[in-house]
Amino acid sequence: MNTKIYADSPAELAECGALLRKGELVCFPTETVYGLGANALDPEAVAKIFRVKNRPANNPLIAHICDHGMLEQIVAEIPEEIRELTAQFWPGPLTVVLPRGEKIPPIVSAGLDTVAVRWPEHPVAQALIREAGVPVVAPSANLSGRPSPTCLAHCKDDLTGKVSAIIDGGSCAIGLESTVILPMGGKKLKLLRPGGITPEMLEAVGYEVEIDPAVLAPVQEGQKVSSPGMLHKHYAPKAPMTIVTGEPDSVCAAIQQKQAEDVWVLAFDEYLPRFAQAVSFGSETDAASQSRALFDALRRFDTLPCKQIYAMYPAGDGVGLAIRNRLLRAASFQIIPAERL
Ligand code: TXA
Ligand code: MG
Repeated sequence: MNTKIYADSPAELAECGALLRKGELVCFPTETVYGLGANALDPEAVAKIFRVKNRPANNPLIAHICDHGMLEQIVAEIPEEIRELTAQFWPGPLTVVLPRGEKIPPIVSAGLDTVAVRWPEHPVAQALIREAGVPVVAPSANLSGRPSPTCLAHCKDDLTGKVSAIIDGGSCAIGLESTVILPMGGKKLKLLRPGGITPEMLEAVGYEVEIDPAVLAPVQEGQKVSSPGMLHKHYAPKAPMTIVTGEPDSVCAAIQQKQAEDVWVLAFDEYLPRFAQAVSFGSETDAASQSRALFDALRRFDTLPCKQIYAMYPAGDGVGLAIRNRLLRAASFQIIPAERL
């Protein structure tokens, strides 16, 4: 298949909207990561997503909308407290799991009776959905298991020859996938996946947030999970990665002891000069820069002659929870204090 790269002009977005309506796949930018879009109401188009990504059939997709009308079309009901919540955070990097409406084919939800919904903020994503005229399901536009794409080059690496269109929207502002929440009744929410909308932000507007244990710990065999995505291996570079915790000077000293030709470090900018072979993890004091850097760095390691990666560990508050969540998965939960390295 010939994959055409589109610019984000109105005429080209109209063409891409028409492709979606015809059942083709279109890769497009959002403020979180790039999505691999299909018409949410067309089960055959949705099936293509699972094939192209090699995505396990039990991992449901997010339906993206661009107005309230689309929302009403695809969910069976919305509790009042959730309407108030989305009024605060939509459009934006928040996905809400709601009862699935009849129009949404079961394949979207991997057979569950819920559907995950997000109204993205990125103007190109909004224009594309508007042009398509239908809700657009879109997982992250990576091949299953790889880090989510945050720029055109990542999408091309994974999807050239496999999709009709990729829209170039530059680099994603956030760089990590959306926050996924499950309403638990009233103002209670369960956080299934941390992202740009942080627990602190949800609590600040009066919601009670329970963090699913799978956010920071591996899922045990046989354990029931609220979000099937947590079961799947994610983000891991080819070389094993170990996270080293502790005070930064001790962390750097411990990693320096391990330096060798095929050892690379994921280091905050402030510490890059201390290593012969290191990739930037953004600034130690700027979580937004870390979230923009992480997935690109993970993809970089696969292009380097690297047999072992050591990573510094970010602070866990705010968006740091989301960064830790992705980093822990990339490291297969290998995490060790500096003094024990
Ligand atoms: O930022 C994002 O959310 C990006 C952009 C493209 O919008 N999309 C994205 O989709 O990250 P994906 O498919 O890579 O991740 C969707 C996550 C998975 O962990 C999945 O298990 C969970 O949402 N999910 C989807 N539908 C669900 C449902 N009905 N119940 C529970 N979890 C659900
Ligand atoms: Mg994904």
